Amino acid sequence: MKRTVLVTGGCGFIGANFIRSMLEAQPDWQLLNLDKLTYAGNLQNLAEVAADPRYTFIQGDICDRALVERIFSDYPVDTVVHFAAESHVDRSISDPDAFIQTNVFGTFSLLETARRSWLAEGRKAAGQRFLHVGTDEVYGSLGATGFFSEETPYDPRSPYSASKASSDHLVRSYFHTYGLPVLITNCSNNYGPYQFPEKLIPLILNNALQGKALPVYGDGANVRDWLYVEDHCEAIAAVIEKGRVGQSYNVGGHNEKKNLEVVELLCDMLDAKVGLLASGEARRKSITFVTDRLGHDRRYAIDAGKIERELGWTPRYTFEQGIAKTVEWYLANSAWMEAVMDGSYQQYYEKMYTNR
Ligand code: NAD
Ligand code: TYD
Repeated sequence: MKRTVLVTGGCGFIGANFIRSMLEAQPDWQLLNLDKLTYAGNLQNLAEVAADPRYTFIQGDICDRALVERIFSDYPVDTVVHFAAESHVDRSISDPDAFIQTNVFGTFSLLETARRSWLAEGRKAAGQRFLHVGTDEVYGSLGATGFFSEETPYDPRSPYSASKASSDHLVRSYFHTYGLPVLITNCSNNYGPYQFPEKLIPLILNNALQGKALPVYGDGANVRDWLYVEDHCEAIAAVIEKGRVGQSYNVGGHNEKKNLEVVELLCDMLDAKVGLLASGEARRKSITFVTDRLGHDRRYAIDAGKIERELGWTPRYTFEQGIAKTVEWYLANSAWMEAVMDGSYQQYYEKMYTNR
C-alpha cells in the first residue's frame, strides 16, 4: 500500500537501518526523515540513499510543534514511525534533562500534531498509523528466570527507561481517549551496522581493534537479549501493515547472553580475523572490570510469542549470523568509525548545508 511515512530520528542507528531497508522493500512508500542531528544523528548513515526521490531529509526537533505541524500540512503524512529519542542509559544517569525533553515532550508534540491533523473533520483515513518504537527496558529487571510479555507491569528503573515508559503511556492514552490509531513495539537490545560506539558491541569492537581496555561493568553477568537490527526493522514493518491498533508488540530474538560472553566472543572473532594484538596477546587480556552502572538492570529477556502468533514475524538471523555480519561491517567501514570518533562526521553536516 502507498504510504507517506514520517520517520523521526532516521539518522540514528535503527532509524537509518529502517529507512535503508524500507526504500528497498517498499517501493510505494515516501519517507520523510525528521532528525535534529544530535551527537547520535549521522547523515553519513544515509549518504547512499540521500538522492532517492522517495526520500526527504528535514533537520529539526520533534519538540518544535510549529515545525511538526508544518510537515503535516506540507505532506500527506499518513504514517509516523517514531524512533527519535535520547537512547543511552549511561547518559540518562549523568544528564537526564534531554531524555525528559525529547522522549516525553517530543512524543507528546508528535501525538498532539497527529491527533489534530488526522482526527480533524473529514481527515480520517483507513491506513493511518502512529507507531511508537519502545524498549523492553520499561518492564524493569528480571531475575534468573522468566520473560517480559506484553502483560508484564511497567517498572522502569533508569531515567532512560522511565522516560520511554512515560512516552508509551502517553501513546496509549491517545488511543483510549481520542481513538488515534497507535501501535507500540517494545524491543530488546539491537546490534548491527551504524550503531554509535557508546553502546556495548560497537564500543568493544572499536576499543578491541585499537588495543584499548575493554570495560565490563560490574561482574559482567548482566544479561541482554540481542536482536539483529534488520530483524527489528522487519518487525516494525509487519506491525505497521498488520498490527491491531491500540496494541503493543514485544520484539526479541531469544538470544540471551551475559555481557562478558559477548565481549569474549568479540575478542575471539577479532583475534581470528585480524590477528592478535601487536603485543602478541589475545584480546581477552584487555578485558577490564570497571565500577558497575548505577541501578544496573540484571537481566532482560523477551517473550515474542504475540508478534509471532498474530503477525507471523520471527527473526531471520541467529545471534551467530548477526554478529558475524556486524563484525564484517565494522571491519569494512573503519572510515565510518574514525569519522565518529574524531567528530568529523558532524563537519559533514556543515559541508552538506553550505553546498546546498
Ligand atoms: P540513536 O541514539 O542511535 O538515534 C537517535 C536519533 O534520534 C538520532 O539520529 C538523533 O539525532 C535523533 N534525535 C534525538 N533527539 C531528537 C529530537 N529532539 N528531535 C529529532 N531527532 C532527535 O537511537 P537508536 O538506538 O537508533 O534507537 C532508536 C529508537 O529505538 C529509540 O526510541 C530507542 O528508545 C528505541 N530502542 C532502541 C533499542 C536499541 O537497542 N538501540 C532497543 C529498543 C528500542
Ligand atoms: P548498552 O549497550 O549501553 O545497552 P543497555 O544499557 O540499553 O542495555 O549496554 C548493554 C550492556 O552492556 C549493559 O548491561 C551495560 C553493559 N556495558 C558494559 O559492560 N560496558 C560498556 O562499556 C557498556 C557501554 C555497556
